[in-house]
Amino acid sequence: MELDTKFFPKGFIFATATSAYQIEGSNELDGRGRSIWDEIREQKGRIAGDPAVDVSCEARLRYKEDVQTLKELGVSHYRFSISWSRVLPDGTARKVNEEGIKFYRDLCEELLANGIKPIVSLFHADVPLAIYDDGGWLNPKNNDHFVDFCRVCFEKLGDLVKIWITFNEIAMQAWSAICRIEGHPWHCPDRPDPENKRQAPYIGGRNMLLAHARVYRLYQSDFKGKGGQVGITHTGKFTYPASNKQEDIDASRRAFDWLSRWTMDPIFTDDGDFPASMRAALPFLSSFSNEEKAMLKNSADFLGFNYYCPFKVRALEAGKKTQSLLESDGDFDYVESWEKICGETWIRYAPEGLHDLLLFVKDNYKNIPTFVTENGCMDIVDRPVEPLEDDHRVRYIEGHILAVQKAIQAGCKVLGYTLWSFIDNFEWDDGFTVRFGVYRIDFADPDKKRVAKKSARFYRNFIDSFNKC
Ligand code: BGC
Repeated sequence: MELDTKFFPKGFIFATATSAYQIEGSNELDGRGRSIWDEIREQKGRIAGDPAVDVSCEARLRYKEDVQTLKELGVSHYRFSISWSRVLPDGTARKVNEEGIKFYRDLCEELLANGIKPIVSLFHADVPLAIYDDGGWLNPKNNDHFVDFCRVCFEKLGDLVKIWITFNEIAMQAWSAICRIEGHPWHCPDRPDPENKRQAPYIGGRNMLLAHARVYRLYQSDFKGKGGQVGITHTGKFTYPASNKQEDIDASRRAFDWLSRWTMDPIFTDDGDFPASMRAALPFLSSFSNEEKAMLKNSADFLGFNYYCPFKVRALEAGKKTQSLLESDGDFDYVESWEKICGETWIRYAPEGLHDLLLFVKDNYKNIPTFVTENGCMDIVDRPVEPLEDDHRVRYIEGHILAVQKAIQAGCKVLGYTLWSFIDNFEWDDGFTVRFGVYRIDFADPDKKRVAKKSARFYRNFIDSFNKC
């Protein structure tokens, strides 16, 4: 089957995305408070390539130019995140920073004046430092501060923003930012490990889920008149068994529970709880009270997925050391599979995983509307290729949009597809050495000019033909 715009329903959203810390820069401007990433960036040797702390896409200053580039790209929507500490400098409502809010209002107004609708993520990895120092997501009290932050955003921007995403990837935050895992990105400043390290990812994940549900309920009770939708973005890590042996099939189910389902089931299943496999393996997991379950259940107007690639897994050999707690708790191991389309990186080319993930939602979560909130790949890392001629990315994007098309044809309700990322940006621990943009930035260029790669032209042409049909 070929990619064909006529299979996408009218009103289908073709978007692109970024997140605040990855693009904004201007960390001292507007009275912004410190985020954990300011601290991480100051640690020598911590980020690949050791970039100077103030190198960025400068998107805080260049937002008008960016809106023109988005217009050139042809997207109907732009997903970005709000920096919590630009709005509430110490993370709490003690000081509401009007200058920070003004920036996000200006950005939204500029987008709307150019025919592009904002999609706003309220949390995308940059915890205010003061909140982190107070325990971050391990401290349930900080949920109150997050709810306060979201209230401010709804009040101040609710007339302009009609699509809200509470969290970007709770699972990713729980595993990479709460509990340090050897050999994995560590998305928090170096601090002594929490005492309850064994339980930390699960405690943090549970707190974030409850924070999400409170924010959803807050919008329903106090802001529904503004006519927006509130969803959540999950880690779209789909899994396949390495063989048809029962033990591998079981391992694949557990892996999916640990990688993705534990942050989705409490919201989208009738049971309203973590997967049974987790309850069986982790006796310390706190239960949800009936009140919490009721608050969580159906607390999303849509289910967002960041999908990059799936994982093939098998049962863990007895006594084998795993990369992290995640695999040993879940009792599974990875098996190498699929094409390394970007060279020696973690990305694999397997669009069927996106298709199957969307079908999983249709069959298991009552066909709740889904939204692909991130999908994309990096420039090829280890082969001498002209970076603007990113044919591999064109192939990756085409294959994944086709996977969405097939899922729609199979009856899935998909609201939109979002390309990650709009511009090359700060790729967390990989700094600027890994580039996901469809627009290239030369970070040594004082103008930080955004230059279209072939994939940007491909996406624009595809959107053009969709708009015409
Ligand atoms: C994150 C992005 C990140 C991307 C590529 C996603 O899981 O939300 O912030 O840049 O992965 O690594």
